[in-house]
Amino acid sequence: MIPVPTVRDFRKGERKLVMLTTYDYATARWVDQAGLDAILVGDSVGTTVQGRPDTISVTLDQMVYHTEMVSRGAPSTLIIGDMPFMSYQPSLKDAVRSAGRLMKEGRCQAVKLEGAGRAAEAVERIVEAGIPVMGHLGLTPQSVHALGGHRTQGKTLAAARRIISDAEDLEAAGAFAVVLEYVPAQLAGLITERLSIPTIGIGSGPLCAGQVLVFHDLLGLGEGRALKHTMVADNLGERIRAGVSSYAQAVRAGAFPQDAHASNLDPQVLEELLSPQ
Ligand code: KIV
Repeated sequence: MIPVPTVRDFRKGERKLVMLTTYDYATARWVDQAGLDAILVGDSVGTTVQGRPDTISVTLDQMVYHTEMVSRGAPSTLIIGDMPFMSYQPSLKDAVRSAGRLMKEGRCQAVKLEGAGRAAEAVERIVEAGIPVMGHLGLTPQSVHALGGHRTQGKTLAAARRIISDAEDLEAAGAFAVVLEYVPAQLAGLITERLSIPTIGIGSGPLCAGQVLVFHDLLGLGEGRALKHTMVADNLGERIRAGVSSYAQAVRAGAFPQDAHASNLDPQVLEELLSPQ
């Protein structure tokens, strides 16, 4: 597992940091074996697993539950637990307590939260408590209504300058890395140049120090058309559908189960069972 302090090396090195979201034990095992640098137990669990339209309803209890499962499945991978909406916004005390629960009960090595301003203060306090924090700027899905939808951020001069200074504030607050979601590629490149901590992009072009994708998007488990920003490595959704219908067909056709799929009674026991009492 990469120790958190060495994540900074990805800022300078040739190799990009590769991160993927994961939400459960079984999947975490496969991801662990694939040798990624980090797993984000994202609050995108709200959309990918729970089928909600956004991440807003995800609770801290749910994030602890998913993070703990992933930490058991991926013992060799750096695990970052996502802090859900309203687990850090109300007060700095809430922020430290929530981060502490994710680490203590969820067994992750770091947490992630969205935004800057007051959120940067939360980063500072959580870091002071000994918990590493990853920042998240640009399209911050917990603020989807305030932002007016899931759209690219930082397109105007003022908005771009704001994201740059927010990124600098997060670094100054002690964040060890910053996710840049849906910001223009050149802006992501500029921020990557300015910071001494790595940027991890999603929908932000090739100039970041690392990349994160959502598991379900990468492997074709989502609904509808693939999003513009994602790479689709496989279409597991189709393969699952085909596998499940071949099971149904086999049962209906009497091809499954066969004798070989169960154990047999000892012939003597069978004989006695069949003979009148
Ligand atoms: O929750 C999540 O999956 C995320 C990534 C998209 C960065 O925050």
